[in-house]
Amino acid sequence: MKGVLFNLLEEFIIENYGEKTFDDILDECSLTTTEPFVGPGTYPDEDLMEIVTKAAAKLGITPDQAMFAYGRYIFPKLVEAVPQFVEHHDHPKVFLKTINDVIHMEVKKMYTHAYTPEFKYFDTEEDKLIIQYSSKRKLYALMEGLIEGVADYFNYTIRRSRKIHDLNGKEVCDFSLYFIPN
Ligand code: HEM
Repeated sequence: MKGVLFNLLEEFIIENYGEKTFDDILDECSLTTTEPFVGPGTYPDEDLMEIVTKAAAKLGITPDQAMFAYGRYIFPKLVEAVPQFVEHHDHPKVFLKTINDVIHMEVKKMYTHAYTPEFKYFDTEEDKLIIQYSSKRKLYALMEGLIEGVADYFNYTIRRSRKIHDLNGKEVCDFSLYFIPN
């Protein structure tokens, strides 16, 4: 996982719960990484999961709730990395359909060794979209948090449900989205 995501996790915890809480959480972790996380670096996914899990335990929420809140928080920060691909959009559905082939492609050019999920889109109705997510990481709660961040950003309500299923021996998750302007 790219260092930028670790840096944003630190920022998220410090901004919401303070520096002391963040230091206490790190003290409880036994991370593989000993040096500071730097944006372009790549670090074990397990280290991010451990910080999230320990943070959740400390805050009395589930790891999925922590991942969701983190995803929601980081979306506008991620936009800052590629504003030219976001700012001209005014509908979250049209924007979401660019993540796989435009945004995450750009991310792979910007960061070597970036691994992004694979999205397939099923667009059958005007105010609906199904995103079929496939990734070795299975970060479904992060996905939902990012979608909530997109809803905040575009001032929409996005109702969602998820269905995990098997596709040719591989686990995928269908996120069914319904867009309502606020
Ligand atoms: C402007 C927007 C975005 C930028 C700049 C961005 C960038 C990134 C970066 C840098 C990573 C980490 C790659 C790695 O560690 O190797 C990542 C991962 C990820 N992105 Fe995006 N992203 C954006 C929007 C979104 C949105 C809107 C979604 C969801 C609908 C999304 C879903 C994910 C997920 C779930 C991952 C985790 C990796 C995985 O599941 O395998 N991203 N993205």
